[in-house]
Amino acid sequence: MNQPVTYVGLDLGTFKTSVASSNGKRFVIPSVVGWPKDRVARALLGRDLVFGEEALKHQSALNVIRPFHRGALKYVDGADVGIRPEDVAKHKEAALLLVQHVVSDLELPAGRPIYGIIGAPSRATVFNKQVIINAARRTLDAVMVVADPFNIANGMNQLSNSMVIDIGAGTIDICPVCGTYPKDEDQITLPVGGDLIDDELHRLIKQSEPYADLSLNQARQIKEKFGFVRDDDEPAIATLQVDGKPTQVDVSKQLNAACRSIVPGITEALLELVSKFDRDFQKLLFNNIVLGGGGSQLKGLDQQIEQALQKDGQAKVTQVHDPVFAGANGALKMAMSMPANYWQQIVAQAGNKKQSNTQRARVSLSRAA
Ligand SMILES: Nc1ncnc2c1ncn2[C@@H]1O[C@H](COP(=O)(O)OP(=O)(O)OP(=O)(O)O)[C@@H](O)[C@H]1O
Ligand SMILES: [Mg+2]
Repeated sequence: MNQPVTYVGLDLGTFKTSVASSNGKRFVIPSVVGWPKDRVARALLGRDLVFGEEALKHQSALNVIRPFHRGALKYVDGADVGIRPEDVAKHKEAALLLVQHVVSDLELPAGRPIYGIIGAPSRATVFNKQVIINAARRTLDAVMVVADPFNIANGMNQLSNSMVIDIGAGTIDICPVCGTYPKDEDQITLPVGGDLIDDELHRLIKQSEPYADLSLNQARQIKEKFGFVRDDDEPAIATLQVDGKPTQVDVSKQLNAACRSIVPGITEALLELVSKFDRDFQKLLFNNIVLGGGGSQLKGLDQQIEQALQKDGQAKVTQVHDPVFAGANGALKMAMSMPANYWQQIVAQAGNKKQSNTQRARVSLSRAA
């Protein structure tokens, strides 16, 4: 008799990995994997691998890898973002371990097949998609890669006449969704996102406050707390260590400039994509622009995009309610709605690459030895 299937939707992001499953469980962790640096760190942490928040907390005791940092492997070549060729395999291994970890934390019933859909940047290459598939094959019995904005649209029941913008950490993906799966050439991936805003904010604050002690991570936290793109927002006052003393610094100007830096690229890409459709359809798309991804939470971004598009006609921008899980929820929904025979074909093509729990344990033990 056929075993019942468990379905999963995975958003394997540059910044965070969120997963939703047909058993009702879902959770999110930072996309980080850490290996203890030495025996002392191993003894302290009590395990060979550490993931997510815990890996961030114990960074100094770990060799930490963010497998998709700045879009690496998912969209750009590792070398483009400074990964040394000899480290690429380690990044791929980290991606594989991350998928294994989040799926095992779902505590799915043993022995049941697991079929999953994973999000990818709109213009991910065949190579990029293969990296993602390979990362999942050891854990899932069948896997499909679907463009991130399409997953968001699906999760929000916006599969017709919408224009979805997914503002992630590594990429911004823009895709018109018109009732069918979009062609590659009808979508755009911009190689910018929240990471770039953090870099720019860090640079601008260091420029104006050269004696401030500011890490990139703190710059990100300031952006997440105050980030805005409107003209009339409340001042953003951050507490920075300046000359060793906690000091209140008004970073509004720097923050506004850094956050706004992504807007022109988004509006240009939107106009380019919309211009491919006839005039009536353009109006429909302009009237249903959906903002998703963590970066969509920048205050005033919806109005800023509406204003920038105003000269080309009316535009209406809305933000997704749940930017953390919108992609994973949409991927799960699609996985559950695909016909069984479609999944069976994928299983047959993939062969049996999945590792049993025993095999996984053996791999961890051999690594620890
Ligand atoms: N409240 C907030 N305001 C502004 N930006 C935010 C906020 N919360 C999170 N972000 C930013 O959103 C980005 C992460 O978004 P998301 O989780 O969608 O990315 P991802 O899916 O991991 O990345 P990608 O899709 O590029 O692979 C980070 O740059 C983060 O700093
Ligand atoms: Mg994303």
